[in-house]
Amino acid sequence: MKHIAHWVLTALLALGSLGAQARSLDAIRKDGKIVIATEGQFAPFNYFQGAKLSGFEIELAEMVAKKMGLAVEWKALSFDALFAGLGQDRWDLVIASHGITEERARAVTFTAPHYCSGGSIVSLDPAIRRPADLQGKVVAVQTGSTYLENVKKLPGLKSVKNFPQDTDARSALMSRRVDAWVTDKFVVLAALNAHPASGLKVGEFLFVDRIAAAVTKGNDSLAQGYNAALATLLADGSYSALSRKYFHDDVRCR
Ligand code: ARG
Repeated sequence: MKHIAHWVLTALLALGSLGAQARSLDAIRKDGKIVIATEGQFAPFNYFQGAKLSGFEIELAEMVAKKMGLAVEWKALSFDALFAGLGQDRWDLVIASHGITEERARAVTFTAPHYCSGGSIVSLDPAIRRPADLQGKVVAVQTGSTYLENVKKLPGLKSVKNFPQDTDARSALMSRRVDAWVTDKFVVLAALNAHPASGLKVGEFLFVDRIAAAVTKGNDSLAQGYNAALATLLADGSYSALSRKYFHDDVRCR
């Protein structure tokens, strides 16, 4: 009986993904417009400046699309909805600072990476800097992030608290509901720039994240078109200029 139920479920899942036909690069070219989803709560990569989506990834994706001869229609959604919508063919591409992981790569097709960064420990207490200092402590991370995966591996934590948005994990630290926050090293710098009096202290760097955009699993024509355009920008100096504007550095993966 258990076997049959499992078989039925597998068949239904397969049918579900057959139903969702990702738009090929040709189909998108005919339409002239690519639909890109992001979160909009992860400065300086993707965030709202008033009502306008801004950030390194927003500007970069627009440059890539332009190279591909496409206009962009943006969608902003909660982080946990982004990959699910690819499977349902609700948008063509996601760019929201996703690190490439094996588990994610089973669900989506990653493009070439557009920056390399990683997770850092952040706290208000100068004594909390290293993984060993987190023993017996409560750590805040964004739900579904690589920070959660990596923090879970550290021994001796009291607990890990998940927040739907990274900005909520930061608030939990600011109001001292947690002892530490683990997030992207550039996100901490942006938070410090925006709130110089916050007292945030950047501790040790924990792991490397290779960050890429993603398309529906198997939409290779779109991934290749995107990769070719990104490679041009990486080679002709435009990527470098944009990266320096945000980070005073070239943040490409090496
Ligand atoms: N780099 C981390 C990850 O891969 C965090 C990404 C968070 N992105 C966002 N738009 N909030 O999970």
